[in-house]
Amino acid sequence: MLSPADSLAPEWLVVPDDVNELPAAVWPASTARDGDGVLQIAGIPTTVLAETYGTPLLVIDEDEVRSRARAFRVAFDAAASDHGTTAQVYYAGKALLTTTVARWVVDEGLRVDVCTGGELEVALAAGVAPSSLGFHGNNKSVAELERAVAVGIGTIIVDSAIEIERLAAITARTDAVQRVLVRVISGVHAETHDFLATAHEDQKFGFPLAEAEQAVARIREIPGLDFVGLHCHIGSQIFGVAGFRESASRVLELHAALLEGGPVPQLNLGGGFGIAYTSVDDPTPIETLAGEIVDAVAEGCEARGIAIPALSFEPGRAIVGTAGVTIYEVGTTKDVALESGATRRYISVDGGMSDNARPALYGAQFSARLASRTGEGAAQLSRVVGKHCESGDIVVDHEYLPADVAPGDLLAVPATGAYCAPLASNYNHVPRPPIVAVRDGRSTVIVRGETIADVLSRDAGIGASEIHR
Ligand code: LLP
Repeated sequence: MLSPADSLAPEWLVVPDDVNELPAAVWPASTARDGDGVLQIAGIPTTVLAETYGTPLLVIDEDEVRSRARAFRVAFDAAASDHGTTAQVYYAGKALLTTTVARWVVDEGLRVDVCTGGELEVALAAGVAPSSLGFHGNNKSVAELERAVAVGIGTIIVDSAIEIERLAAITARTDAVQRVLVRVISGVHAETHDFLATAHEDQKFGFPLAEAEQAVARIREIPGLDFVGLHCHIGSQIFGVAGFRESASRVLELHAALLEGGPVPQLNLGGGFGIAYTSVDDPTPIETLAGEIVDAVAEGCEARGIAIPALSFEPGRAIVGTAGVTIYEVGTTKDVALESGATRRYISVDGGMSDNARPALYGAQFSARLASRTGEGAAQLSRVVGKHCESGDIVVDHEYLPADVAPGDLLAVPATGAYCAPLASNYNHVPRPPIVAVRDGRSTVIVRGETIADVLSRDAGIGASEIHR
């Protein structure tokens, strides 16, 4: 029989047999409970991490990032070499970019994709070779493009006719020759389990397929630009290959037509590989995905009688997502009686939408576990919320947690490695948490946490003695 709280549970949420279990797909492989029931990551108890660094705290498991980066590289290398070509994997830095993370992925044989001047500076500060960087963005400024060309960036992914002319002027002025890819919109949108394909797209990125030929013709006229191929990214958090297959087929039609006017050595199919956020998500192993996507490209090339180009991919979330775990301390709990007769358990933690905007922005689902001990209580449907002055400030919308969760307990929210820290804000003047890397029983701060002084530091009125009218 359903308890009143269970009537609020979404259909997909499974009541766990053991409310303290750690479903493998959403946690770093090193996560386990120690003899006292304390959740530990890379051999370090979360209680020790919380004591050392405070909460909230984003923990990143270095081995998890490295092994995922390696798995992508090995899988795409193998798939490409089966068809006599090569594949480069660019880590999409927007998912989480710090100098340390950039060094890990480069050490594992990846390149890095950046999409602003700021991300470019992080990659350069990390010592990433400029030649192994790709530069994205629909509105790169002249200053950003000048900097990229001056440092000798590997590839610029051109997004508009105006950008082509900006690059023509910059390369003419500096005598540089810049490699460029042209970003196209294939009309394929892939989201999780379904994909949708349209001929006309109402979105800001890239060139519609019908206009790309003209853009490439213009690039080929410019002495300072070296056209190397097409780029297409179809979405994020994608499960399965159907969307990639359809998109590749549309883009290859254009690729084949462009071969009549000159060489087209490369094809970049973007990122978007999905990860597990809750125990119901079941992403396909990367080895399978890589094989099927590259097979689809090879088939498309064969059907058109063209050689398979050198391939590249840009995973972000799939490299760092499940390597990250956020640790919060519980501040209050509350059982709210609803008109329907059901009661909802609210558990408030000491962070929220300022360190993880994804639930508020996208309705994203996460999961959580009691971390500082195992719970004794039964599984209680709970909603984990933040401390911000906003009712949409939800961290985990629906989760079964032990009924005895209480103030002072630590909660761990897995799969927060991607698009959480990069989207963090200071809403309500809440300082952004530190990022701490863990490996082999050791922890290191890779981005320090903000202090209240940091947060106040931009307020030019602090210290002023009077109010000026
Ligand atoms: N390449 C391009 C050109 C992209 O625009 C993106 C993501 C990626 C690669 C990496 O996609 P990934 O493998 O990480 O799915 N903030 C949103 C996701 C925005 C993705 C933007 N572009 C979220 O939190 O879900």
